[in-house]
Amino acid sequence: MAVTALVGAQWGDEGKGKIIDILAEKSDMVVRAQGGNNAGHTVVANGITYKLRLIPSGILYKNTVCVIGNGVVVDPAVILSEMADLTSKGIDVSRLKIDARAHVIFPYHIALDELGEKARGAGDIGTTKRGIGPCYMDKAERIGIRMCDLINPEVFKQKLERNVKFKNEIITKIYGGEPVSFEKILSDYNGYAAKLAPHVCDTSVLVYDAVKSGKNVLMEGAQGALLDLDVGTYPYVTSSHPISGGFCVGAGIGPTLIKDCIGIAKAYTTRVGKGPFPTELDDEIGERIRNVGAEFGTVTGRPRRCGWLDAVILRFAVRVNGLTGIALNKLDTLTGLEKLKVCVSYTKNGKTLKDFPSDISELEGCEPVYEEFDGWTEDISAAKSIKDLPKNAVAYLRAVEKFVDCKIKMVGVGPDRTQNFEI
Ligand code: GDP
Ligand code: IMO
Ligand code: MG
Repeated sequence: MAVTALVGAQWGDEGKGKIIDILAEKSDMVVRAQGGNNAGHTVVANGITYKLRLIPSGILYKNTVCVIGNGVVVDPAVILSEMADLTSKGIDVSRLKIDARAHVIFPYHIALDELGEKARGAGDIGTTKRGIGPCYMDKAERIGIRMCDLINPEVFKQKLERNVKFKNEIITKIYGGEPVSFEKILSDYNGYAAKLAPHVCDTSVLVYDAVKSGKNVLMEGAQGALLDLDVGTYPYVTSSHPISGGFCVGAGIGPTLIKDCIGIAKAYTTRVGKGPFPTELDDEIGERIRNVGAEFGTVTGRPRRCGWLDAVILRFAVRVNGLTGIALNKLDTLTGLEKLKVCVSYTKNGKTLKDFPSDISELEGCEPVYEEFDGWTEDISAAKSIKDLPKNAVAYLRAVEKFVDCKIKMVGVGPDRTQNFEI
């Protein structure tokens, strides 16, 4: 049995897409289990850049089965456009399987995401406005419409009619927004259903059978540990579970099937959206990291907030995910900085905090305690092994391993699938 889980260890955008794509070469199946098209996973292969939002990053290898598990929220228009785009690039998408229990995103979810953010004003979360939160709200309220409903015309019509009526009351009477049209949604979504129906099945069975027959299965995380609905920086989080436990719920498998759990991190920290960020750099170093690292959102194009590596966060990620290793990306982005800093603890009101606070009001005002390292100037983007790295880069990696008490197993030195090596 060989299920390997890959999770974001920070606030998302750690380069999960690249690592999945690399590991997918030796995998039979890649599974997404949570989130939706709030995710943006970039894969650079053979000079072509692919930006995947819903489809697992294993799709570029022709024999890999790609699964969208029951825990994912699916916007049918988005997945169909992604499928069409991949097909136009010569990629066969018939290997894409979508769980019958996955919930469907509707225009009223997107409208409510936007209206909710607007109503929160300065207290907004900074969501991607893709309807993710409102769709998960319907799931928890038990009025959600699932893929199995979408492809069953009678059931679908009934449930949609009920929901549109209810949602339009909220949209117009609470928010003063424009109502959505039942007829238009019904006709658009019936069209989507016809195209998606051949892909819909019970993916829990598929994953279980694959594992039982000795196949290699990869779980592809979206977002990151600090965006987890339960253990993240609530309320500045997403509405699903990006930590490793989320794979069990969202793919319909038991925890004993997962053998390894690799946390993907950047050699520094970034965040999009609102919320506290202790090591954020509001200066020319932060600006430099953003420009050199091309830190702009894949989905929304928003500039990402940048800061030094935070080992308190990585220790938290090791703990809540049970990490067995770390893949550290974007070491190349730090090249040329004279001094590097890593946050090893926080101080607040004269007290030292070694563990990431569970309450963000405790996190507000935490001052990072840094250890400083000498940088390097050599171009490392062609490095193929740790032997090709300057000694200061190796010292940085080894120090990070020590601070977080977890082995770094892979290092990324560029966006291409070839710019990565095991250590
Ligand atoms: P994901 O959401 O975790 O898959 O990450 P994104 O794709 O949103 O953002 C990561 C960005 O960093 C993408 O543009 C990747 O192509 C790029 N990237 C990944 N690994 C590396 C690396 O080691 N070095 C550099 N320079 N870029 C990388
Ligand atoms: P990947 O998979 C970075 C953030 C949003 C916002 C918060 C809630 O590419 O790493 P949502 O639309 O989910 O309700 O927004 O979560 N967020 C991400 N940030 N990477 C992502 O995905 C994200 N998905 C959601 O910016 O702060
Ligand atoms: Mg991303």
